[in-house]
Amino acid sequence: MAAGIDDISIFIPRLYMDARDFAEARGLDPQKLVKGLGVSKMAIVDANQDAACLAANACLKIMQKNKLSPEQIGRLYVATESSFDESKAMNSYVIGMLEQVYGDGSFQHCGGIECKFACVSGSYALYDNINWIRAGESEDKHALVVVSDIAKYDLGSSGEMTQGGGAIAMLLNESPRLLEFDPKVTSTSIKNEYDFYRPFGKETPIVHGQYSNLLYLIQVKNALIDYKRKALKTGLIVMKEGQSMLDHIDYFNMHLPYSNMGKKALAYLVRHELRSTPKWKEIIAEIGMEEPIPNDPRGTIESIISDLDFMTKDSEFTKRFVRTDTYQEIYENKVASSLIASKSIGNIYTASLYLGFRSCLEYEFQKGVNLDGKRFGFASYGSGSSAMVFSGVIQPEYIEIVKDMNLEAEIGERQKLSLSDYEELHENKRTPEQSILNAKKEFILEHVEKISSDKRGERRYAFVK
Ligand code: COA
Repeated sequence: MAAGIDDISIFIPRLYMDARDFAEARGLDPQKLVKGLGVSKMAIVDANQDAACLAANACLKIMQKNKLSPEQIGRLYVATESSFDESKAMNSYVIGMLEQVYGDGSFQHCGGIECKFACVSGSYALYDNINWIRAGESEDKHALVVVSDIAKYDLGSSGEMTQGGGAIAMLLNESPRLLEFDPKVTSTSIKNEYDFYRPFGKETPIVHGQYSNLLYLIQVKNALIDYKRKALKTGLIVMKEGQSMLDHIDYFNMHLPYSNMGKKALAYLVRHELRSTPKWKEIIAEIGMEEPIPNDPRGTIESIISDLDFMTKDSEFTKRFVRTDTYQEIYENKVASSLIASKSIGNIYTASLYLGFRSCLEYEFQKGVNLDGKRFGFASYGSGSSAMVFSGVIQPEYIEIVKDMNLEAEIGERQKLSLSDYEELHENKRTPEQSILNAKKEFILEHVEKISSDKRGERRYAFVK
């Protein structure tokens, strides 16, 4: 049975930190953020927002747009790494909020859980719900998968320049207007790692950024190798002599902890794909240097990162490689549009991959490209660590969904934060009543119980008309 994404909605907090102001405050060259990382604005949550209300707002948007009633939703999953309870699942809060609009008990029939595996959990949630539909369990109901996160790092840390926040809701069903997933090719890779993690009770993560970046590339490559094996075995892709996967996937969507990570990941994967093709010799001649090999090619990530001679040469090789016409053509045609939205929103962990997907749809459509029948490849990564690679094909009715996409209009009027307001929000010095913006037609967090011991941690939300 077919299954895929029928529609997609986005909810982004309207406050933002400007990358140039931020760089100035931290004594950094603004070009490091703007050019080096591809970050120009970071969306910041207000004092009356948390990941649950971002998720509920994204759900409400998609339900209202499609005139869906709760009876038509069979499952509601939330994937997040911004959880605030060790036991109570985030989707229960979201259902509580939605029932304020649709009526008490209106979602009672609806199943679902909160999913956790850093940034990759949204892809696992998507896959599980797609399989629920494929298995014929849905009784014509839709599944809602919401990816919602607040990327927040310690003040003054190197991760602080890659923050952001937002939620994306995806409506899944058996006759999707947007994208149908390819069956039997979804592939994963997993390994116990400490590249990025957030121990109990800690609001910000412990991050080994460079280690995490390299692990991301390796894990995604491993999953891609398995994807390729499955795609060839099932006949989804038939490869002619001299071809690579790049000839069969029209667009690549990468996990984007920051926009330029998409470029980095593409360069790594394209190098891997082209290495065994006849074209590679021409590329090496054009680059004018051999591809460097680490001292210990079978070594650990630590040994590779500490092999400074290799790291310097590899960085030089990558710089030359990304200037080749071959890479530039692949980058411009298959990836560039997916990186645009991330620049003005920042990292939204689980939602970053799907922000890239949405960005690609909007900006390719604006260029006048006909997307009907195009295959999208997805490279999802979550620290800790696991990668998932899968693909899907754009459906003929996609125009119905994509023609109305307008990221700026959907976010609404944004307000730039001063450094002092940003730091006050970051350090949780404002209560929900002291929010900076006045909410309108959205769910907000009203109160978190901190005193009464038998109600400690209870959260109260409201829908502001
Ligand atoms: N002008 C232009 N570019 C500049 C620059 C300048 N003045 N200064 C630095 N750059 C470039 C660097 O060359 C580098 O580019 P490259 O990646 O192509 O080599 C880039 O900007 C980043 O600089 P770098 O020195 O690598 O940054 P950093 O080590 O201080 O921190 C991260 C970058 C991404 C590692 C850090 O922000 C982080 O850990 N973020 C969190 C990441 C995360 O959440 N990971 C979760 C799992 S995916």
